[in-house]
Amino acid sequence: MARLLPTGPAQRFQLDADAVAQAWTPASRGVLLASPSNPTGTSIHPDELRRIDRVVSSQGGVTIVDEIYLGLSYDDTYGHSALRLGEHIVSVNSFSKYFSMTGWRLGWLVLPEALVAPVERLAQNLFICASTIAQHAALACFHPESIAEYERRRAEFRARRDFVVPALDRLGLRVPVMPDGAFYAYADCSAHHADSWDFAFDLMQRAHVALTPGRDFGRAEPQRWLRLSFASSRERLEEALHRLRRELA
Ligand SMILES: Cc1ncc(COP(=O)(O)O)c(C=O)c1O
Repeated sequence: MARLLPTGPAQRFQLDADAVAQAWTPASRGVLLASPSNPTGTSIHPDELRRIDRVVSSQGGVTIVDEIYLGLSYDDTYGHSALRLGEHIVSVNSFSKYFSMTGWRLGWLVLPEALVAPVERLAQNLFICASTIAQHAALACFHPESIAEYERRRAEFRARRDFVVPALDRLGLRVPVMPDGAFYAYADCSAHHADSWDFAFDLMQRAHVALTPGRDFGRAEPQRWLRLSFASSRERLEEALHRLRRELA
């Protein structure tokens, strides 16, 4: 049974080794974290990940890192695969984000040799294989022209982040940790409302702007947080922020 551990801005909304060590029980088998993460766009510091991995390995467990947003990293301190820690790491990845193939249901795992056969047995009970058409389409992702387009988009996401985060701060929707990857900003709405769930509905009805309340993501002070996705175009983001300004000023 999976157990959620709370995180907050002081740890970049990521796990830390002490919390993992304290939560470990004889029934624990491993740790799963996402870096860069959804909903915060923040990554775990490589030193902290190393410490977590040491705790987990010393207990005979597996460190699993969801790196689906790794291709959309904007800071060299964080933008490296957990596989740098060694071949015992499990890395989860997908064509959905950097390669923009959302909905094609194509992804991959990098596994230690010993886990390949057990994971194959598990996977066989969930699906037969990735669709042929998705696999052929994915081959086109590796053409130099495709990579150039993905890099252009990555730069665009970064520019949107640099536009959106200060604008949210000015609206009293403070983003306590600068997202270093992905296309999300996780903002504190407590200066405006005691409950992000009600606030999100309120803003949807009044401003026609859709923000996602913290409750959709976990149980660590969910009423305090709202996620804004800056996957939308710059024009739409400008319009959304203009409408928020009208409601919140
Ligand atoms: C952190 C994270 N992991 C995994 C996924 C799933 O991606 P997909 O099933 O499209 O590959 C998402 C989707 O938003 C995500 O945010």
